[in-house]
Amino acid sequence: MDGEQERILALRTLLTRLFEEYHVLDAPSVSDAEYDALMRELVALEARHPEMGDEHSPSRRVGARAAGKFQPVQHDPPLLSLQNAMDADDLREFDRRVRKDAGGAEVAYVVEPKIDGLTVVLRYEDGELRQGATRGDGSVGEDVTQNVRVIASVPRRLRGAHPGAFEVRGEIYMPRPAFEALNAARAAAGEAPFANPRNAAAGSLRQMDPGVTAGRALELFCYEVRRGGVPGTQSDALALLAQAGLPVNPIRRHCASIDEVIAETERFAALRDELPYATDGLVVKLEDLQLAQSLGATQKAPRSAIAYKFPAEEAATELLGIEVQVGRTGALTPTAILRPVRLAGTTVQRASLHNEDLIAQRDIRIGDTVRVRKAGEIIPEVIGVIADDEHYLRPAYEFPSVCPICGGEAVRREGEAARRCVNTACPAQLREWLIHIGGRGALDVDGLGPRTVDLLLAHGLVQQPEDLFRLREEDLAQLPRFGEKSAAKLAAGLAAARTRPPARILFALGVPHVGERAAELLVERFGSLPAIGQAGQEELSDVPGVGPVIAQSVYRFFHGAVGERLLGSLAQLGFVLGGEAPRGHLDGPLAGEVVVFTGTLSVPRQEAQQRSRALGARVESDITRRTTLVVAGEAAGSKLARADSLGIRVLSEAEFGALMATERERN
Ligand code: IVH
Repeated sequence: MDGEQERILALRTLLTRLFEEYHVLDAPSVSDAEYDALMRELVALEARHPEMGDEHSPSRRVGARAAGKFQPVQHDPPLLSLQNAMDADDLREFDRRVRKDAGGAEVAYVVEPKIDGLTVVLRYEDGELRQGATRGDGSVGEDVTQNVRVIASVPRRLRGAHPGAFEVRGEIYMPRPAFEALNAARAAAGEAPFANPRNAAAGSLRQMDPGVTAGRALELFCYEVRRGGVPGTQSDALALLAQAGLPVNPIRRHCASIDEVIAETERFAALRDELPYATDGLVVKLEDLQLAQSLGATQKAPRSAIAYKFPAEEAATELLGIEVQVGRTGALTPTAILRPVRLAGTTVQRASLHNEDLIAQRDIRIGDTVRVRKAGEIIPEVIGVIADDEHYLRPAYEFPSVCPICGGEAVRREGEAARRCVNTACPAQLREWLIHIGGRGALDVDGLGPRTVDLLLAHGLVQQPEDLFRLREEDLAQLPRFGEKSAAKLAAGLAAARTRPPARILFALGVPHVGERAAELLVERFGSLPAIGQAGQEELSDVPGVGPVIAQSVYRFFHGAVGERLLGSLAQLGFVLGGEAPRGHLDGPLAGEVVVFTGTLSVPRQEAQQRSRALGARVESDITRRTTLVVAGEAAGSKLARADSLGIRVLSEAEFGALMATERERN
């Protein structure tokens, strides 16, 4: 059996389980979109492998089997489902077929929100509610009459005269606020929350005790007259339902063409989140019901309507492998290699696995079916595994302890999420570092893209970042496929890069955790890169917006061989690493003082720290042997004792204030 055939069997087992979870247990472990994606994968594989045909395959199933706790109800005619459109092209294709079947003329549509609830059929006799049934598998549903009777928006009696049988189709749903409140209550009671409003509605309606249903805030929207009225158009049908006192969704639109329908899908996508109920798409229906009737139906769905599904934000697919890349700071980052899957309108083949811990915590193994999510513009990410029978037979994933590029040791420092290659000569790190240096927020080197970086590295022209700035135009012009023009452009780009301000140079150094903002804050506070390199860890972390993690990283960098070397060579190469320290820092009246504040002060501590820094003090948060002055506010405790034991000068806040005032005057 080949890989695809094995995958067919695995998908059938998985989808059968997911189907039971969803339709029988009302407790799915995956989203509808993930289920749909797995089903599409199975259908596509089965089409490629007709020899694997099986009439019991989940792909052949139309709807849910009734769970068996309620009396069966025969649906006549059966309740069909809808074909799906995933994008505007699918809608145009649908329209083309409809017009062809209808004889070529333009046709009008009604567009309605597709409510994420569950179908019910309500039968009224002589205006009285007689039966409520779920859809079941379309032919046989469940009798839930006692339960629909307790739903406030289901009328017991129709308005107006309705002699004989009147049967309607609609959707029972749970409004979002009720859904959230129900889940919160369940969580508080230690019960499993419902996965989505549809499951909450289904679980609430299919209760043996109608009292439970009554407490669940269910609502109804009707959209089809099945018996007892012969509306000419879908708009008439909705009007008829409303006249009879049945709740009808006020949101709907008559569209004169498929272009209008497509415009409506875009408009509705923006409105959707504002609605107090969940929708998973729009239903596009032929306005002319007679025409709809004459178009007929396939086994599963009418030809006259289609469900436009909003792009899925989650999907499920097979994890084919894990690729570990090495970033510019040496961090090893795992990327999932996926069996291609449609997600939010694009095909996804790679997704972030974040870090070593995520893989271990979620026990993600190669060969597993994983859940992938894409939110907004963010890179897709793996969020977990859908466990199948074979999960535990697959070997657990072992994160590499050596760099996959240079083979050097990959070390995980305490408190860090990433394992890092510690070989400072690692070619992968150098490559990423050079690309980073050329990037926008860093030195913005015109002409230094990834391809040029690869070329420079391949020809051994750059062994360390500063080599870039020693390149001569004539050397560059010798590079294969790198004409004089490119050489001149890169040389000019490199020359211009030397004039970038110190904060951007600091950012370009690629110190782990130091982003553009932190680089600016540090330069603002210390004035120059050499001054940052000399600062103590505490002093660094005292900078508002910097904090201990960045401080430690900066300290390590400038006290390591690479940092020290770079400071020297950049200065030699003509980079301006900073100007004067901010006024007062190195030469202020409190210059030389290392101050620690303790206890409660009359002004915010940050303000006191800032004021003393402006007068030249170095402010630290812990008392060390370096500390020269402790300012003790109210209720100062252990630090005061420590200052005493080390014989450090201690001032009250008032004394310190006076000292600052006199120092200021003296200067
Ligand atoms: S019309 C022949 N209109 O979507 C099918 N269905 O995927 C006629 N649904 O089973 C269905 N809102 O449960 C229709 N405004 C709406 C709907 C709607 C939700 C559900 C319905 C159906 C499913 C099809």
